[in-house]
Amino acid sequence: MRTQVGIVGAGPAGLTLGLLLQREGIECVILELRSRDYVERRVRAGLLEQNTVDLLHQLEVGDRLDREGLQHDGIYLRRQGETLRIAIHELTGRRVTIYGQQEVVKDEIDAFLERGGELRFEVSDVAIADFDSGRPRISYVSGSSEEELECEFIAGCDGSHGICRQAIPEGVLTEHEYVYEFGWLGILAEAAPATDELIYGWHERGFALYSMRSPSVSRLYLQVPADEDIELWPDERIWEELQTRLETEGWSVNQGPVFEKGITPMRSFVCEPMQCGNLFLAGDAAHIVPPTGAKGLNLAVNDARLLAAALVECQRDGSRERLNRYSQTAVRRVWRAQDFSNYMTQLLHDLGRGRFDRQLQLSRLEYLSRSEAAATSLAENYAGLPAAPDF
Ligand code: APR
Ligand code: PHB
Repeated sequence: MRTQVGIVGAGPAGLTLGLLLQREGIECVILELRSRDYVERRVRAGLLEQNTVDLLHQLEVGDRLDREGLQHDGIYLRRQGETLRIAIHELTGRRVTIYGQQEVVKDEIDAFLERGGELRFEVSDVAIADFDSGRPRISYVSGSSEEELECEFIAGCDGSHGICRQAIPEGVLTEHEYVYEFGWLGILAEAAPATDELIYGWHERGFALYSMRSPSVSRLYLQVPADEDIELWPDERIWEELQTRLETEGWSVNQGPVFEKGITPMRSFVCEPMQCGNLFLAGDAAHIVPPTGAKGLNLAVNDARLLAAALVECQRDGSRERLNRYSQTAVRRVWRAQDFSNYMTQLLHDLGRGRFDRQLQLSRLEYLSRSEAAATSLAENYAGLPAAPDF
């Protein structure tokens, strides 16, 4: 079988790229390891930048997002019982939207298939070859048959544990990595959020975050050691710890049945360049950010936007100029997001560096409450700097 662009992975990066190419009449096939049901249920991030929302609208997959997404104009930073609101919309003219990543994935899969797209779930033994030539190939097994897809380009959108980045010969990539000593314990609970906007909490015992998925579902996180055993955290202990870390007078966390619980380790990672011959990496396949800045999903979608534009230009004018610059362009926003995610992480977590460090954090938080310039800097990074052809 042949196609123009072979896309490995049906996460936000692969699906957004598929929809963008489909709209421009560029043939593509998406190959996904997991079942449709699995990818549509996998619980992940849930905060969309304005850029992401705008792009989903351009792709005409934003109807349910409009109905069910929760638009937020600000966030709260809480420490020692005091709450500071960062007025994101007032400071930047931009908003963020709460909408689960799996909901984005559901909407994108629906639209891609409805528009006649080729998307194969539950493929195995995926391998890529000859991407340094004009005829890259993807081999895979579907059901019991061995298949081969001949393409002009391969898009490696297969996440952090995928095969595409690993297929790049040694010596081509430079990898930058930072591993944190802590992770996040996250829960989803049937409980109305006791807040209208997200609360990022600084506490001596560690960071806590109050987020949500809907008016009746709360998403909450606690900083825990990276190697923490989840068995040590029965629901009652989680609720108690959330209440302690997010404490403020006359207020309490709303409790309800916990229906999902897990620990995610935290890591910052970038590989450069995000391309090798006719193989292009997008999303988690090329970079990981700690979740504090809520950038992972938004970066994946941005990579897809830039890669699609470059592929379209190549197809239309036969010019590889933009394609050759894809990595250089995409990685700019990646590093901006790395810096911001690192900033938010270092501002709010117990980094294990003692009291001096914690006092610096408190001073930075106070600075945010006294300086509009400082608050604006946080707000514009959080909301996402406007999308541009070179950013
Ligand atoms: N062949 C085919 N598909 C694969 C393979 C493979 N060998 N390996 C992994 N995949 C699939 C995964 O099952 C997954 O559905 O690739 C997809 C990658 O999707 P994501 O992990 O969601 O990555 P991406 O699309 O880059 O989106 C990044 O996901 O992890 C979050 O915080 C991150 O929000 C960010 C977003
Ligand atoms: C989430 O709702 O999952 C979420 C929100 C904000 C973050 C991280 C995660 O910074």
